[in-house]
Order: sequence, then C-alpha cells, then structure tokens
Amino acid sequence: MIVYRTREDLIQHLKTWQDQGKTIGLVPTMGALHEGHASLVKRACGENDMVVVTIFVNPTQFNDPSDLENYPRPLDRDLELLQSMEVNIAFTPSVREMYPEEDHRTFDLGGLDQVLEGAFRKGHFTGVAQIVSKLFALIGPTRAYFGQKDFQQLVIVRRLVELLQSNIEIVPCPIVREEDGLAMSSRNALLSEDQRKAAPFIHQTLRMAREKRGTMSPEEVRKWVFSRFQNQTLMSLEYFDIVEDRGLVPVTDWNEPVNKVGCIAVQLGRVRLIDNLIFN
Ligand code: PAJ
Repeated sequence: MIVYRTREDLIQHLKTWQDQGKTIGLVPTMGALHEGHASLVKRACGENDMVVVTIFVNPTQFNDPSDLENYPRPLDRDLELLQSMEVNIAFTPSVREMYPEEDHRTFDLGGLDQVLEGAFRKGHFTGVAQIVSKLFALIGPTRAYFGQKDFQQLVIVRRLVELLQSNIEIVPCPIVREEDGLAMSSRNALLSEDQRKAAPFIHQTLRMAREKRGTMSPEEVRKWVFSRFQNQTLMSLEYFDIVEDRGLVPVTDWNEPVNKVGCIAVQLGRVRLIDNLIFN
C-alpha cells in the first residue's frame, strides 16, 4: 500500500492505472476506522482491480467546532489496518490540500439536505457534497462505497452523482453493529463507560418500534419512541422519523407502497449518534 498526502502524487499514480484500463474502487472515510469501514474496504477489494481509501476529516461538513476538534484521528493505527487489507492507495491529504481556497459551492440536493440530519446540522450535507464531489473528480473511480449507517448521506450522494452527470456506481453497504446492537461509529470511542452501556438502547428502540407496526400508526410509533426516551437520563432524542427511502418524506400510512426506513439521532452527553433500520 502506498500512502499519498498530495493530489499531485496521487494523480500521477492514478494515470498509470487509467492507462492500463483498471477498475478503481473508492472508499471515502474520515478515519478512526472500525469494522464498519473495513466491510466497505473488503467489498471494494473484491469488486475492483484497484482500491483507494481516503482518510480526511472534512471541516466543511462539521457544524459544531468542538465536534471537529474532538473527532478521533488515530492515523497510524488506521494505516496499519488498511495495510493488512488489499488496499493499494491510502490518500490522507491536509485541509489545505483539499481546500486550497474556500469552497463556496452549493448543490441543488432537492430538499434531501433539509430534513432529518439536515434540519439539525445546518450546512452538513453541503460540506459532504463539496468533499465527495472533489474526491470523485480527483480519483474518477469506477465504483464508490457508502454505508447504510449514514442512510441520508447515501441518498444524497446518489443525487449528487445525478447532478454531476457522473457514471460512478454507488455501492450501498449494510450497517455493521457491535454484538449488543450498537451501530459501529468512530464517535463510539468518545463515549464514557456509562454512556457506552446505555447506547444499545438506541438500536433496541428501533427494533421495538418496528414491531409496533401491527398495532400503531406511523405517527403513534413516533410518539411511542419519543415517550421511551423521556425516562432516559444519559441520552436525549433529537429526532425519530419513519421515511420513504428515496425522497425521505415521512410515511403516514403503512400501506404506502414504498420502502420505509426508521431514522434516529440521539445525543449522549457531547456525543451525537445516528442509526436507522429498514421498517418494511
Ligand atoms: P465516516 O463517518 O468515516 O464513514 C465512512 C463510510 O463508512 C461512510 O460511507 C459510512 O456510512 C460508513 N460507515 C460508518 N459506520 C458504518 C457501519 N457501522 N456500518 C457500515 N458502514 C459504516 O461518512 C463519512 O465518513 C463522511 O461523511 C465522508 C463520506 C467520508 C465525507 O467526508
């Protein structure tokens, strides 16, 4: 595996692959890698001639400066993990390398960026679209891998590919969980012992909510989830919604012929966690 820090070095190497007609799999990450990331990397290695993993904590997608500051950055450990897999290139640019000048671009994300995460993290998806579009243009992958853990991000990246009229194939990958059901996340490392013990409640609640389908309307399930969190001392519920999986519009009737996803965001002290579950 070769580690590049500059665009110039990366581009030179990619040219040789392009000349040889190699397929390229891209896995964009912000590092602090865990088995969730590793599942994307494995899949990319299985489906492409060459694989590039990027590690870049993208400042433009953070709406909370202390979240950006506290974001874990164990780069040496991350590179060791990637080295042990079949990754060809790890790209770990500096902020200046990716943003030599301020990025003022906005993207018409058709309102997908205004709901759920977008309603609570202003500008977050503009930042995601800025960095993902830069990485797509720089690397020109055949396929790019995204986790369903960040369900809304996946929907928005698909929209971005349409906007850019790009032919990159977006490959969705299932959520990897800890044994107790907690969705793996780089932010889990920031939880205290008590918070970590309490956190599986999030996934448990999603599963229980899904079971309520037989007896409650979507709105009643929503209220039920909110009431369940009222007794929690260590965590507070930011949002819970059951939405259809394309336009992210809230579902009002179980009979709607659409795929339904229950999406949740929870604040545990200073750590904010998201999760989701398919409700079909
Ligand atoms: P990051 O949070 O590091 O996640 C990188 C990729 O790993 C994303 O596609 C995410 O959905 C996926 N992922 C994270 N946890 C997962 C889990 N438990 N199971 C399966 N996949 C998981 O998402 C980002 O970085 C950034 O927004 C990025 C796309 C890199 C742009 O900066």
